[in-house]
Amino acid sequence: MLSYRHAFHAGNPADVLKHLVWIQILDYYTNKDKPFMVVDTHAGAGMYLVESDMARKTGEWSTGIGKLWSQPDDVLPEAVARYLEVIKAANASPALKHYPGSPWISGYCTRFADPLRFFERHSTDAPLLAQTMKFVQKRTQITVADGLAGLKALMPPQARRAAVLIDPSYEDKTDYGKVIAGLKDALQRFATGTYALWYPQLARRESVELPDRLVKLGVANWLHVTLSTQPPATDGLGMTGSGLFIINPPWTLPQTLEDCLPWLADTLGIDGHGAFTLDWQIQ
Ligand SMILES: C[S@@+](CC[C@H](N)C(=O)[O-])C[C@H]1O[C@@H](n2cnc3c(N)ncnc32)[C@H](O)[C@@H]1O
Repeated sequence: MLSYRHAFHAGNPADVLKHLVWIQILDYYTNKDKPFMVVDTHAGAGMYLVESDMARKTGEWSTGIGKLWSQPDDVLPEAVARYLEVIKAANASPALKHYPGSPWISGYCTRFADPLRFFERHSTDAPLLAQTMKFVQKRTQITVADGLAGLKALMPPQARRAAVLIDPSYEDKTDYGKVIAGLKDALQRFATGTYALWYPQLARRESVELPDRLVKLGVANWLHVTLSTQPPATDGLGMTGSGLFIINPPWTLPQTLEDCLPWLADTLGIDGHGAFTLDWQIQ
């Protein structure tokens, strides 16, 4: 039984980091006049209402997108401005009502020839995703099945170009091992794809050790970025921030992130607790 629902968390600081980076990856891929496949192994519902009962219950969006929405244009670093442009495109009104998930962002930022492949196992979110993706229905396939097994079946892509987002909920600590195994397998089948893996910063061994285990995969090109916005809770539990480990990142990404992370950490940090790390190896 899956209990995680992204509607509780949509638009939080972790989504800001993930979606800002994902947009940079998609923009880099669409710069070249050649189709590429988008794979989202853990897609979610694709669109969320900030006024839903679930979003209201946690109020997480107000600590993420809520802090960026009304910032004046002239203070925004370029990548944040681009991120906000996409989120604003999902909202017809000047007020923030909808927060788009990664599938909607992928549909919006790609072209008619770019196939979209989504996996979502939750029986409530999968039909919602189908509804959300109607605007790009012809090039979208939604599969209600395990996303890492689905990724295996899709690699290598016919187009020989692919951007893959792996964004599990880590409800189960075995998810950490599963993403490593899934990435290893995908890299054997298709070594040149861009793979972006999201993970939560938690005081649990599996989360702390994940980045090192990813570096040890031995790929030539990677980037690791984290953004934390709050101190650990007094019981030491809870998420303090999140990270993304990207295999074969755009070569432009380190500079783009260097230009916006200090501002993001400053703006999203709660009571001065914003911090980031950025490491990469690009050969
Ligand atoms: C963090 S959310 C995804 C958020 C989405 N990628 C975004 O950025 O908008 C993770 C999703 O994975 C789904 N899920 C959990 N286990 C899965 C699996 N084995 N295969 C595919 N989806 C799964 C959950 O139901 C949940 O909707």
